[in-house]
Amino acid sequence: MKVELEGVTKRFGGVTAVEGLTLEIPSGALVALLGPSGCGKSTTLYLLAGVLKPTAGTIRFDGRVVNDVLPQHRNIGMVFQSYALYPHMTVYDNIAFPLRMQKQPEAAIRRRVHDYAELVQVAHLLDRRPAELSGGQP
Ligand SMILES: Nc1ncnc2c1ncn2[C@@H]1O[C@H](COP(=O)(O)OP(=O)(O)OP(=O)(O)O)[C@@H](O)[C@H]1O
Ligand SMILES: [Mg+2]
Repeated sequence: MKVELEGVTKRFGGVTAVEGLTLEIPSGALVALLGPSGCGKSTTLYLLAGVLKPTAGTIRFDGRVVNDVLPQHRNIGMVFQSYALYPHMTVYDNIAFPLRMQKQPEAAIRRRVHDYAELVQVAHLLDRRPAELSGGQP
């Protein structure tokens, strides 16, 4: 999916978190935003996910303006800077949650949860809750 930002600005009251960001990311590209603390990296990701709305500017996915598309309709995944895990859910249910929200069939969810868990080597922890993990395991 091609991602375009054109003159994207985000203000929080008097604070300008992102100012006039113009960027085109071709489909399939792997891009890192690098910059000092407070320069607006996380805010930019929130804008792409739709958690925040730009104060000005345009965000396009494959040419379609998504400024007013809600997060649940954007098909954007996000890993938060601080772990955003549901404390009352097991590791399995935390991984399955977004797939359940997409109403995927339970068998497909089970397969994908196990595949992801194998990939990041947490398959043996699927029945635990976040509080029962070590610092690096989440
Ligand atoms: N909800 C908010 N209200 C007011 N100011 C905010 C808010 N969120 C972020 N800011 C400010 O906007 C600027 C950009 O913040 P952001 O979190 O995007 O930075 P960052 O590049 O991700 O920094 P870090 O590397 O520390 O994670 C900072 O000056 C921050 O204090
Ligand atoms: Mg950040």
